[in-house]
Amino acid sequence: AIDIRALRKDTGHITYDPGFGNTGACSSAITFVDGENGILRYRGYSIEELAANSSFIETAYMLIFGALPTREERQQFRDLLSDQELLHEGLRHHFDGFPSAGHPMAILSAVINAMGCYHPDLLEIETDEEFLRATAKIISKVRTIATWSFRKGQGLPFMYPDPKLSYCRNFLHMMHSIPYKQFDPTDEQERALSLFFLLHADHEQNCSCSTVRMVQSTEANLFASVSAGICALWGRLHGGANAGVVTMLEQIRDGEASISEYIERVKKKELKLMGFGHRIYKSFDPRAKILRKAAHEMLESTGYQDPMLDIALELADVAMNDEYFTERKLYPNVDFYSGIILRALGIPVNMFPVMFAIGRMPGWIAHWHEAHADSTTRIHRPRQIYIGDTPRPYIPIDKR
Ligand code: ACO
Repeated sequence: AIDIRALRKDTGHITYDPGFGNTGACSSAITFVDGENGILRYRGYSIEELAANSSFIETAYMLIFGALPTREERQQFRDLLSDQELLHEGLRHHFDGFPSAGHPMAILSAVINAMGCYHPDLLEIETDEEFLRATAKIISKVRTIATWSFRKGQGLPFMYPDPKLSYCRNFLHMMHSIPYKQFDPTDEQERALSLFFLLHADHEQNCSCSTVRMVQSTEANLFASVSAGICALWGRLHGGANAGVVTMLEQIRDGEASISEYIERVKKKELKLMGFGHRIYKSFDPRAKILRKAAHEMLESTGYQDPMLDIALELADVAMNDEYFTERKLYPNVDFYSGIILRALGIPVNMFPVMFAIGRMPGWIAHWHEAHADSTTRIHRPRQIYIGDTPRPYIPIDKR
């Protein structure tokens, strides 16, 4: 065991590590990643086994509370999520204030943060019961908020959640149903969405998770901390990458560049190959393997034709046989194939990072709670190497 307190002593030395590639900022019992060997485990369970046997909600429970639920616990958790799926009427009115063209990620982060105004009793979490209630509110309502942010942009009426439906069916209902005509997804569509969320549920100290822990370290509340996670996820190098992949595949499909021209531009560093490369995975991303297979199966079972999958497969094949990529250990990451699945579920590209945020929510909550419960957590406060001016006198305005 490591004595963490012993490692906390200020030594007077500063480690210069831009991008934190070699800095461990916390200890955690939630997720294990071995990037050299392509291994990912949530609380000791392999991602492959969870993907084959579990559902998003069961995995979310396990990530947050530490153990797989019994049948009874799983049902209680599902019931709690159903109880929590409606938004406070006051929160619903927030949607009136957003312009129709407002990006759904901006709406999501704002409304999740605003939840703190409607549940002031949960701004300070002291008991397990309060943590469970706050967790259920966020995991359940994030779906309602996400689908309404989409419908606001489309000028469509908001669909209310249907407590009879499973988590993923309910999401698809609120996305795609219209009054008097409920959208009824196939079992394969429901499973594909559950798998997508499950594979995104946690990934240890990625940028958004570290942001959640950074904000938590000031003892900020859960709503504010996960809202900050959503903001960190938004960028195209993180949760925005899946949308970048689809844009790239569309450009190739529409003849703006052939695959080889695209690869050449990447090698000249004019572009990045979106959905490729990872800070940790240097052989392959196990989630990408699972999603690649799932994308094939889903297209086959639904009969949905998507030329983008063929383009993606060919592009990946060309890149993985090119020295530029193999030398730098660049392989497809989770975002490379996820867009194919989301397109087949009728999810528009601007909602892709929102989908990632719904999936990642259990991970953010688990990390917030782990840090909150750990009495050794210190406020996060990195140092810097100052490269600015040496001391100089103030110059009065008429002498500048
Ligand atoms: N396309 C082309 N070249 C790349 C790519 C890429 N996608 N990713 C890395 N490289 C190159 C870099 O240019 C660099 O080359 P150099 O040694 O000649 O300078 C080398 O590979 C190392 O790259 P770094 O930028 O140091 O890698 P880093 O670990 O900082 O970045 C990241 C990781 C952000 C994921 C990067 O690979 C990237 O931008 N990928 C594309 C965006 C993407 O798919 N993001 C999703 C990540 S997964 C997730 O968030 C769930």
